[in-house]
Amino acid sequence: MRRIFASILSAFVILAVSANDGEKKTSPQMDKFISDLISKMTLEEKIGQLHLISGTDAVSGETVSNQSKVLQQIKAGKVGAFINAKGAAKVREIQRVAIEETRMKIPLLFGMDFAHGYETIFPISYGSAASWNMEAIKESAHIAAVEASADGLNWIYSPMVDITRDARWGRIAEGAGEDPYLGGQIAKALVKGYQGEPAYANNTNIMACVKHFGLYGASEAGRDYSVVDMSKVRMYNEYFEPYKAAVEAGVGSVMSSFNEVEGIPATANKWLLTDVLRNQWGFDGFVVTDYASIGDIIRFGVSDYYGASVMSLKAGTDLDMESYGFTNNLKNALEKGDITENEINIACRRILEAKYKLGLFSDPYKYCDPKRPEKDIKKKEHREAARKLAGESFVLLKNDKNILPLKKNGKIALIGPHGNNRPNMLGSWGWPSNLNMASTVMEGLKDAVGDKATVSYARGCQPYGNMEHEVWLSLTKDFEKDGRSNTELLAEALKLAKESDVIVATLGESSEMSGESSSRSDINIPAPQKELLKELVATGKPVVLVLFTGRPLTIKWESENVPAILNVWFPGSEGAYAIADALFGDVNPSGKLTSSWPQDIGQVPIYYNIKKVSKPMDKWFQKFRSGYLDISNEPLYPFGYGLSYTTFEYGDIILSDTIMNKGKSLTASVDITNTGKVAGSEIVQLYIQDMVSSITRPVKELKGFEKIYLKAGETKRVNFTINEDLLKFYNYNLDYVSEPGDFQIMVGRNSSDVKNLKFTLK
Ligand code: BGC
Repeated sequence: MRRIFASILSAFVILAVSANDGEKKTSPQMDKFISDLISKMTLEEKIGQLHLISGTDAVSGETVSNQSKVLQQIKAGKVGAFINAKGAAKVREIQRVAIEETRMKIPLLFGMDFAHGYETIFPISYGSAASWNMEAIKESAHIAAVEASADGLNWIYSPMVDITRDARWGRIAEGAGEDPYLGGQIAKALVKGYQGEPAYANNTNIMACVKHFGLYGASEAGRDYSVVDMSKVRMYNEYFEPYKAAVEAGVGSVMSSFNEVEGIPATANKWLLTDVLRNQWGFDGFVVTDYASIGDIIRFGVSDYYGASVMSLKAGTDLDMESYGFTNNLKNALEKGDITENEINIACRRILEAKYKLGLFSDPYKYCDPKRPEKDIKKKEHREAARKLAGESFVLLKNDKNILPLKKNGKIALIGPHGNNRPNMLGSWGWPSNLNMASTVMEGLKDAVGDKATVSYARGCQPYGNMEHEVWLSLTKDFEKDGRSNTELLAEALKLAKESDVIVATLGESSEMSGESSSRSDINIPAPQKELLKELVATGKPVVLVLFTGRPLTIKWESENVPAILNVWFPGSEGAYAIADALFGDVNPSGKLTSSWPQDIGQVPIYYNIKKVSKPMDKWFQKFRSGYLDISNEPLYPFGYGLSYTTFEYGDIILSDTIMNKGKSLTASVDITNTGKVAGSEIVQLYIQDMVSSITRPVKELKGFEKIYLKAGETKRVNFTINEDLLKFYNYNLDYVSEPGDFQIMVGRNSSDVKNLKFTLK
């Protein structure tokens, strides 16, 4: 949920205090330090550590709206962590209250959602994922951590790693798409980027929080906060992998999800939060609820407020975000014998350990250096990294007759609501930054062409049709007001189009159409923009569609009628320059989709790694086969798809052996040649199919990838090591096993275009 930042606290006087002593990095010392501390704490103080308070006036959810009330609670030792205080001075003052005006002088955690950059905004996470560049993604997280930590924060609610196969669900924009393996790699990169290696080595490293555990992306019908219900085999093989990968990367905290898991709300689900997370995966950090989700348990009808609080603590939830469930109920529950003091101590210890690991007991103001914001926020290098990653995230969906790249001459008509707008460049979690600081596409293009070409702008239409929630969509990231009708705007656009050599149409979703609570049943480009596009194509001028979106869109008509489509997601604060880089060929697009894009909404959920079925359809249409009467099963664009300004040719797969003995490995090699005229990067993808197995398995699964850069005419060999681990899966008993038999290796440019070869595991 979005919170509007309040600035009431910023006026407080900043006072320096001396740091607590006693912190050492080794675990026995940490244990002793925390045991000593806990032994001196009252019950109320221990429960206070389990409370996360919002320091803002909220726009939704149950929250404290009065800042002085917040401070009173901190002074009373009733708060362990704080969400949404922005600015080193403000954070320092709140921390000062915790250190100087509470009996135990325990520092607070300061968290926030700045999921794809803090002030320098990177593309939305779903966009960055399309770069398949783990180093660049890790670097983006590091930069976000550097900037946020300079501004007082020590904790981020990212990475969001929920696997999503339903484009209707708006939060697809926040994750990495549909694939467990890719999702896992990205989860690791982000955790390491935020926390540093080793974790928290200095004051530019902050604690990550993997979310939303678990299975939140499987919300039925793509409706946010809806029912989730699935088999354990599916959880373990398909949905758990990215969360587990984050744990393996050492993530410091986990956020439970709003949904239920097997009939028990995730926040109160002991199997999920203790048996799986801690006992099976070895997680040793703390679990925080999602916003007010203990309170929300009441609406599931499985418990009242008291019971929900008790269940949540017992399940393994340590920190209550804004439900006041723990502060209001745990003392009473202890008196009634429904919980033990030891259960409170365990949760309290986990919160204190996090603070210890971050170094806050040594220096509570570690992240409040007043000199850092000036030095560390929006540095030139940060902006360059954001521009580069944005460029790598763009996916060239179509490029007929090499209409792209454009030449830097002649008359360019830039048409569409997105061409001259700042806030919508940023995406759904661009909130921490100044919404008006991003450059517009117009500025980006003009900067690129200088006086070699003219770029003229027309809005063309209003951004939305008669969407019921238009008011909400325009609430904070509005397009500039223009009182003219669509007819007037169209007339202006067509006049400009006719006078120009090429049309760059900047259209798509607004950034509020994806993200939390932004599910859609119609995933087309909004109606007035689609109408505009049809008119532009009808002019006969070459049209390049620059598509803004936070989810796969149904763009069948566009794919058939518009000559070139460059998908740019929500590209971030430097996105305008990155768009110009790509349109003019200074950067060769190399992004590839991390979700299957449907031809039609009726196909969702659609994903490439579907399990084998008893009556598969070989070719549309066959009666008594798994398919539709009115549409094939194929996506419009498959997972892993993306074009380049050059072309790549794949050689045949060379396998080091056709037999693999258990515990050994094979090498699959493929030669890739750049057969075009310009240099470019290609993402070479490895898929494997387990051909016969004890339970039904997917038709293919991504098991490796490599992004290579090739000069024109150059050939490179890509070698994938296939070891037994890549062949393992969770069987019916949830044992992680490999089973002897035949496997299909597939290597290719996307999930639908692969070469294959068989080998046998003995
Ligand atoms: C979202 C989380 C977010 C939290 C705190 C919730 O509504 O689901 O992703 O971290 O709010 O803002």
